[in-house]
Amino acid sequence: AAIEKGNYRHFMQKEIFEQPVVVAQTLRSYLRRVEQTVALPQIDFDLASINRVTIVACGTSFYAGMVAKYWFEQFARLPVDIDVASEFRYRDPVLEPGGLALFISQSGETADTLAALRHCKAAGQTIAVVVNVPTSSMAREADLLLPTHAGPEIGVASTKAFTCQLAVLAALAAHLAVKRGRLSREEEAEIVEQLVETPACLNAALAHDEEIAGMAHLIAPARDVLYLGRGPDYPLALEGALKLKEISYIHAEGYASGEMKHGPIALIDEAVPVIVLAPSGPLFEKTVSNMQEVRARGGKVVLISDAEGIAEAGEGCLATIEMPKVHPLIAPLVYAVPVQLLAYHVAVAKDTDVDQPRNLAKSVTVE
Ligand code: G6P
Repeated sequence: AAIEKGNYRHFMQKEIFEQPVVVAQTLRSYLRRVEQTVALPQIDFDLASINRVTIVACGTSFYAGMVAKYWFEQFARLPVDIDVASEFRYRDPVLEPGGLALFISQSGETADTLAALRHCKAAGQTIAVVVNVPTSSMAREADLLLPTHAGPEIGVASTKAFTCQLAVLAALAAHLAVKRGRLSREEEAEIVEQLVETPACLNAALAHDEEIAGMAHLIAPARDVLYLGRGPDYPLALEGALKLKEISYIHAEGYASGEMKHGPIALIDEAVPVIVLAPSGPLFEKTVSNMQEVRARGGKVVLISDAEGIAEAGEGCLATIEMPKVHPLIAPLVYAVPVQLLAYHVAVAKDTDVDQPRNLAKSVTVE
């Protein structure tokens, strides 16, 4: 059956709103809710023997991989190498025995990622793929297929595929951690519980849609927008900037909050909105002090945080967007929603072709 937009104005908007359902759908096949354990599809090798992970992807899928790097290191204590596919292939990476090469792709057909997969396979790596199209080339060539169940994604700018990738990667990180003896039964159960909560948290984030639509006029006239984040929210800043570039054609950059003082701070003035992604928690204070550096230079800040963070640092901001208070593991999934909505509404305000942005393709099959 043809896929319809229903009551939505664009596929991208529909896909943003589908996230609670498709993330739940995806998680269902990775979590055993009664046992409170993470479960991967049947595999015929021992994940405990993996000594290194190499993550390769492009675009939004690459940013999902960047988030996963934090998780694999933190929870599973596994060393992780990550690169965009077009660079990875040509830099002669060191691929030692016992390595897991992990490819992330919505389509499963992106030419650079597929070429990198074949390169790793020839080099004797175990191949794992997180793909949304189960009949794709990458799915067929993998040793370990980890599907996302986002359903067909029509909008060129990826949204629901991204959060579903994060859901699978969180489950994989937890599973690797268990296999490596890094998570107790209680800790695993806690992670499962947090993941089960994710769809409700995504709904809470989506409830800010109208409010974010009302902010679009603050961003639409800008020539440049900066996104800042720290830790796993740094890749989210990159993703936020990518979404805005892709569909609103506004130049945007994502930066690690702490790195801003080494360059981009020179750009700050009243005309450059700065979107700060800062859930309360151990990284909050440092990110906020970077945010104050922006404010001290006349920068206009949109702070995305939870009630606690906004109470502490929201005063004097151009706008704030309040997310539910969530476990650090699921924060990247939840914080994806406001950056998607912001990009979407700015693009609508600028009347661009949201689902078919100029010069971009849904699946890039040339290297
Ligand atoms: C294109 C799309 C992006 C996507 C990227 C990687 O550039 O426009 O939305 O993130 O390809 O695609 P993949 O299918 O490999 O995830």
